Amino acid sequence: MSNSAFNPATTASWTRLKTLAGNAPRIEDVIKKGTQFNQHPIKVEGLSLDFSRHGMDVDILNSLLELAEQSPLYTLREGLFSGAAINITEYRAVRHPQLRNSPATLESDRLAIKNLSERIRNGSLRGHTDKVFTDVVNIGIGGSDLGPKMVCSALREFCIDTIRVHFIANVDGAEIRHLLDGLDSETTLFIIASKTFTTQETMLNAHTAASWLGKTLKLSKPWASNHMIGVTSDRERARTQGINDANIITFSEDIGGRYSLWSGIGLSIAISIGFERFSELLEGGAVMDHHFRTAPLSANMPVIMALLGIWYGNFLDVQSQAIVPYCERLNLLPSFLQQLDMESNGKATNRAGQPIDYRTGPIIWGQTGTNGQHAFFQLLHQGQHLIPVDFIAIRKDRTSSPEAHNLLLLNMIAQAAALALGEQSEDAHKNYPGNRPSSILLLEELNPRNLGMLIALYEHKVFASGAIWNINSFDQWGVELGKKLTQQLLSPDRSLLDKATLRLLDIVQGNG
Ligand code: F6P
Repeated sequence: MSNSAFNPATTASWTRLKTLAGNAPRIEDVIKKGTQFNQHPIKVEGLSLDFSRHGMDVDILNSLLELAEQSPLYTLREGLFSGAAINITEYRAVRHPQLRNSPATLESDRLAIKNLSERIRNGSLRGHTDKVFTDVVNIGIGGSDLGPKMVCSALREFCIDTIRVHFIANVDGAEIRHLLDGLDSETTLFIIASKTFTTQETMLNAHTAASWLGKTLKLSKPWASNHMIGVTSDRERARTQGINDANIITFSEDIGGRYSLWSGIGLSIAISIGFERFSELLEGGAVMDHHFRTAPLSANMPVIMALLGIWYGNFLDVQSQAIVPYCERLNLLPSFLQQLDMESNGKATNRAGQPIDYRTGPIIWGQTGTNGQHAFFQLLHQGQHLIPVDFIAIRKDRTSSPEAHNLLLLNMIAQAAALALGEQSEDAHKNYPGNRPSSILLLEELNPRNLGMLIALYEHKVFASGAIWNINSFDQWGVELGKKLTQQLLSPDRSLLDKATLRLLDIVQGNG
């Protein structure tokens, strides 16, 4: 069987796992035994994974590892790091790890990020009226928004206090209008962040920004002013739009949108925390790359996380995965991971183009604890769905008070224990069944390096899962049809529209 037609569901390990799933140990028994393989966290520098609260024994883990070994994981991992065209439907390599590993990148694209971010931070790049920039607005959507926005929010402790960074993604005119109302155009800089430089939402918001600049600063060519920066892999389009060549930062087409925060798309991060700290973020990513590439599968953090997901999704009928950071600065992590995981692995076709019938990517959702405890944890503890949780916590937080931080962490420990062990009661309403799995990712502290490791960890978890399922995690054809239909709706030609769509259009436009 060729590698691209690999079907994990036909392997002996898959069949064995099906049998093992019928008799999986309870988490409390695994914990009681205490000698299990998973009693010690896997550690990579300042990040550790505690996966002791899972109902698994050595047989299950070994079968999962065997499955991983038989899958295209090794070949694809090699292809990822060597620049092979593993994105087979777009005929492209997948180069985001090179952004954090290859010194050659530093000399070109990364140098441009360094120069521009430093000029904005030190005030040598100024606006039309020679004033320094105090506000930077990143206009972008999906990967051109979620990553930088999440990182800027997570690392706000390190942000420069003279420049505020804002993010506009949705094509909701009220949002951008509301933001612009509070800004001074003389001191506002826009970053138009779009890999393709064609995304409708981004281009419409960018035009709104440009006309605001034109009107308030009396500029006939606002796009060509220093107030407009373009970040894209299509320099020509940005140039045609009117952006000054010196104000365009490019990155390779081989960087997927959801993996692009390490590229020029991270300009807002570099402006906010400085290029040195931006480099530390990249170094953290590189540390995780090295671990993923070299650690044996049984002690490989992203691979273990992928195998846990496969165990639950493919053998215990689990459909979703909750992400619950116990740190308010990580509140955007769940939505960042939603795009990373669901856009990568929400597929039902294998790499050979054949339909597949085993389950692939899970539904990713979540929010910070303790807030989530007072919202959806009821269902996690007593509901009918089995939902594994990734708890994420920061061990030392000098920005919080010792009392609050301690209470935050104790809450997380209590939740993990309550989910795993439950509590029996004769009153069915007050019975906690337990045996509900969770992992704990602990960062020594929330700094750029550790955050870089955490992001790359999830990237590689998604990669390893996709490799074992034998899907292409790097395209996103599923989002194209909706874009095409929006274009048809914008066109005066209605002949391509079906009756239900026409009726809805009439109602929405008030003609119905
Ligand atoms: O529509 C999905 C998508 O293509 C994402 O993959 C991407 O991150 C986002 O749109 C934005 O694309 P661009 O950076 O080209 O504007």
